[in-house]
Amino acid sequence: MCGICLIASTLFFAFAWSAGLVGGRTTTQTFLKDTPSTFPAGYRRAHGKGICFDGTFRASGKGVPFSVARVFAQQKVPAVGRFSLGSPDPYAPDNSTRTVSMALMLTADDGEQWRMKLNNEPFFATRDAKGFLKQMDAYKPTPATGTPDPARVKAFLKEYPEAKKYVTWDAAAPWTRSFAGAQYNVINSFILIAENGKKQAIRWSMRPHASFTSWSVSQRKQASHDFLFEDLKKRLQKGPLYWDLVVTLAESGDPVNDPSQVWPESRREIVAGTLEVSHVFDQANGGCRDINFDPTRVPKGITLSDDPVLLARAGIYSHSHNSRVREIGYGKATDAVGKRQNDNRKNK
Ligand code: HEM
Repeated sequence: MCGICLIASTLFFAFAWSAGLVGGRTTTQTFLKDTPSTFPAGYRRAHGKGICFDGTFRASGKGVPFSVARVFAQQKVPAVGRFSLGSPDPYAPDNSTRTVSMALMLTADDGEQWRMKLNNEPFFATRDAKGFLKQMDAYKPTPATGTPDPARVKAFLKEYPEAKKYVTWDAAAPWTRSFAGAQYNVINSFILIAENGKKQAIRWSMRPHASFTSWSVSQRKQASHDFLFEDLKKRLQKGPLYWDLVVTLAESGDPVNDPSQVWPESRREIVAGTLEVSHVFDQANGGCRDINFDPTRVPKGITLSDDPVLLARAGIYSHSHNSRVREIGYGKATDAVGKRQNDNRKNK
């Protein structure tokens, strides 16, 4: 009897440890631990404020020699996506974060899907996902001063020296004043697989046809609450917006397992096609609302690199997606599904 109890409790603790329920182990759930219990139901736990779009991807054919993915050959591929702010807060003012993003799902006529998430940042701050947690922790304002504790920041930068590059970029790079003129970067590395089995490591960006425009600090401070989203809607009333899918080909020795390291600018690029964004829809009832744009969902002909940040993300996204669709399913969501409850919007 004692033996059975011992085996059962060992199994229980092994399960609890692997799920991160006991001990200090970092699991994919750990990344959402700071989400307040008051987080508005039904919204994404990061990039909460967004707008759905639909459009068409037209392949140029230039990706065909590198990958059997049908999306590189098909003339017109239906696209569903989402523009968002990097802030978790679904009510955030548009001038509150420098991060703007594009999520995209391309569904080819062989049924294969390519899902992706792209940010306007050119690289990730840290070499691994744990570094992201440590960065959040280090830069959390202390209650006494309302600013980060310099000693914690110093310790973080000692452990993750590569993050200094991000800090420098963040302090100087201009903030975009339009979703339309922003370049969105995939940041992690992936591998293309050609018909003969040849593999090619890549990264890619969605490069806008619209010109980049930035805010001065005073313009940014004065910008209206929904400036970026209103600007996007106005531009689309005049016609579609376009982004080229620019694929960068790695050369031997380029770091494919470290998203904090950029590749030399001289690397060959191919324009694999062009995305046309035609319409936007409120995210409360648009087609993007319940999609998990999990970047590890790649079609045949594309595979994942061993980039540790990429590999950590599927589990994190799955937790956030499960929580929000569960809240919607159980009828707990209000604003997130377009049901206004006493118009409880903050930051109006
Ligand atoms: C460890 C690092 C990261 C963490 C903890 C994290 C966390 C999250 C979470 C929880 C969501 C909400 C997902 C949902 O409910 O569907 C999200 C969305 C998003 N993330 Fe990340 N993320 C990380 C890295 C990245 C990177 C490297 C990129 C860009 C290349 C990125 C781009 C995005 C975008 C664009 C969205 C919005 C997707 C949408 O509109 O559906 N994230 N992230």
